[in-house]
Amino acid sequence: MSKDVIIGFLGCGNVGSGAWRLLEGFGADIEHRAGLRFVIRKVLVRDLQKPRDIAFPAGVLTDNPDDVLNDPEIQIVAEFLGGEEPSYTLMRRALNAGKTVVTANKVAFALHWHELQKAAKRNGAGLYYEAAVCGAIPIIHSLEESLQANRIDKIFGIVNGTTNYILTRMSKNAEDYATVLRDAQRLGLAEPDPAADVEGLDAAYKLSILASLAFHGRVPFEDVYVEGITHVSAEDIRCGQELGYTLKLLAIAKRNGLNVETRVHPTFVRSDHPLANVSGSFNAVYLHGHACKEMMFLGRGAGDMPTASAIVSDLERAASSCMHRYPTFENEVNPKVSLRNNTDWQCPFYIRMLAKDEPGVLSRVAKCFADEQVSIAAVQQKGDCHNGRVTLVVITHRAGEKAMQRAITALDGDIATLESMIRVEEE
Ligand code: HSE
Repeated sequence: MSKDVIIGFLGCGNVGSGAWRLLEGFGADIEHRAGLRFVIRKVLVRDLQKPRDIAFPAGVLTDNPDDVLNDPEIQIVAEFLGGEEPSYTLMRRALNAGKTVVTANKVAFALHWHELQKAAKRNGAGLYYEAAVCGAIPIIHSLEESLQANRIDKIFGIVNGTTNYILTRMSKNAEDYATVLRDAQRLGLAEPDPAADVEGLDAAYKLSILASLAFHGRVPFEDVYVEGITHVSAEDIRCGQELGYTLKLLAIAKRNGLNVETRVHPTFVRSDHPLANVSGSFNAVYLHGHACKEMMFLGRGAGDMPTASAIVSDLERAASSCMHRYPTFENEVNPKVSLRNNTDWQCPFYIRMLAKDEPGVLSRVAKCFADEQVSIAAVQQKGDCHNGRVTLVVITHRAGEKAMQRAITALDGDIATLESMIRVEEE
C-alpha cells in the first residue's frame, strides 16, 4: 500500500518543470521502489498567463504563495525560485509551518543556512539541498552520510558548468573569451546576464556549502575569495599548455587544523590531473579524506533533468525519513569555536610579464621575487621582441599569496610589466 505525499512547488522554471516531468514520467517507478506516491497540489508561478510546455491540471497553478504555505495538507515544499528573496522568506515560512523544504537554491541557502536550519529543527521539519550544489552529483548526501568516517582536509573542483564550457572551448580551439561567451549565450549555455557565473559567485556559494559540510564548521560565503574568468586570455591558456598545465575555474577549500582557506579563481592544474579532463559543462568534485583517500565525483551540474534528479531524490529521502537529520556543527554566523579564515595560502604561481630584452632585466625581476622569499622554479622567454619587449613567463615554487602580491607590486614598470598572475594547484 503506497503512502500519498502532498507537495507544493515554489516556482516552476527550468528546474521546477524538470522536477514535474520527472515525477510524472518516473512516479510509478518511485512508487514501486519507495512506496511513495507524490501528489503536486499547488505550483506557485509569477505569471499565470505565461504560455507553458506543461499542461497543469486546473487549479494547480497559483500566483499566491499562501496557497502553498497555508495548505495544511502540503507536507513538503520544493523551492525553485532562485536568488535570495523572496526565496529565503518563503522557505522560512514553510519551515515555521512545519513543512519540510527541498531546495535547489544555493544563494538563499548559503546566505541563510543557519536561520533555515534553526527554523527546521524548531519545527521538526526537514531541510534538503542536494540540488543546490553541482546538480545531479550526489556530493551533499555523500558528505553528510557516506563520508562521515573521514576527516576531510581538502575538497576542490569544477562546480560551475558555464565557465568550464567557456574555458574548455578556449583551451581546445584557442578562441578568445568574448567570442566563446557570446556563442555560449546564443546556445543557451550561458545566461543573458552571465555575471554570477563568469565572476565566480555561483561557484563561491557552492564552495561555502561544500566546505562547511566537509570541514564540519560554518564557512561563510563572505570568507570565500572570489576571482572570475573575465580576464582570462587565450595567450595564458596557450603558455600554460606548453608548460603542461590546463586552466580551470577551481573552487578550492583546504583545512589545516582550525585554519581554512576557501577560494575560487582561475587555476592551472597539471594536464594529467583528473580535473584537467573534465570538459564542457560537466562538474567534478575532488576530495581527500584521511580514511577514504582521494575521490572524485563527476557529472552534470546543471540542466532541468540532472537537477531534477537531485530534487526528486531529496523528496523521496525527505518523505521516507522518520527523523530528519541536520549537520551537527555549530551552524552560526559567529560560532564559538570558529574555523579561522586563512587568506595567506601557499601555492605555486604562474606569472606572465612583458619585459625589456636587455642585460640585467632577468636579475632585477628575480630580485623582486627573492626579496619576498619567492623562489623561482622555471623561467621562459617567449617569442620575438615587440616594441622592445618580450614575453617572460615565470613559474614559482610554493609561495605565500601575500608575498607574491608584494613581489609583483615591486616590479619596476620600466623593465617589466605584469600581464597576468595565475595560481597553480599542484595536489
Ligand atoms: N549556472 C550554474 C552553472 C548552474 O553554470 O553551473 C546552476 O548552479
